[in-house]
Amino acid sequence: MEIIIQKDELAGSKVAANIFESLIRKKPNAVLGLATGSTPLKLYAELIRKHKDEALDFSLVQTFNLDEYVGLAPEHYASYDYFMRENFFSGVNVADDNIHIPDGLTDNIPDFCEQYEFAMKKAGGLDLQVLGIGTDGHLGFNEPTSSLASRTRIKTLLEQTREDNKRFFKEGEAVPYHVITMGIGTIMEAKTCVLLAFGEGKADAIKEMVEGPLCAMVPGSALQMHPDTKIIVDEAAASKLSKLDYYKWVYQNKPEWQQY
Ligand code: PGA
Repeated sequence: MEIIIQKDELAGSKVAANIFESLIRKKPNAVLGLATGSTPLKLYAELIRKHKDEALDFSLVQTFNLDEYVGLAPEHYASYDYFMRENFFSGVNVADDNIHIPDGLTDNIPDFCEQYEFAMKKAGGLDLQVLGIGTDGHLGFNEPTSSLASRTRIKTLLEQTREDNKRFFKEGEAVPYHVITMGIGTIMEAKTCVLLAFGEGKADAIKEMVEGPLCAMVPGSALQMHPDTKIIVDEAAASKLSKLDYYKWVYQNKPEWQQY
């Protein structure tokens, strides 16, 4: 794991955007794994800026989103389909046919999940997966005790996650219990993973996933086994790491050819 500590969310998001940019310029038909939630918002804003001001072209890119709520239509304001269109796709030129988001209304979830996995393989596999982390250590919606070998499937949310995500729903509207999510095994096959975490609320999850034991109780810890994962955090999310100074030194002293 490479731990990249930046002064704040904006600086961290810009580093992530540079990683996306160098991939897309090198491989215009890159396959991107995308995430929702508050964490990637500034990354998406920076990618939109690069598209508008620096001609970063997404026309051949394919995208696969990590997860979606079961039972929410794409038009629902809290669906991840809606989120992606509002916060990313409306500002870049990804072709509609190249956008893949789990279908929360499918009437055959196992079949849908199998096809979703197949579509990723057919596209050539994920080149770059962006991730957030839940306060309970989840990746995508792979809650604690998820199999570290799991594939895209239905999951049931922990109460803590439903509580964390209440802010995206209107007062009185229940957060769904069920979701479709890529599995940890699916995420682990991405060639590169970029995990972003900002704010003090993520400090425990970051500490456990980076420096704790590899275990299904902290799904993010599976990334310790991933060959190319970059963890981009602000000072607050990094504050509980015991080797903080080491990570900072390593990043500040990278040879030029390794910089983003
Ligand atoms: P957040 O969620 O970006 O809204 O904090 C992250 C996650 O649940 O993975």
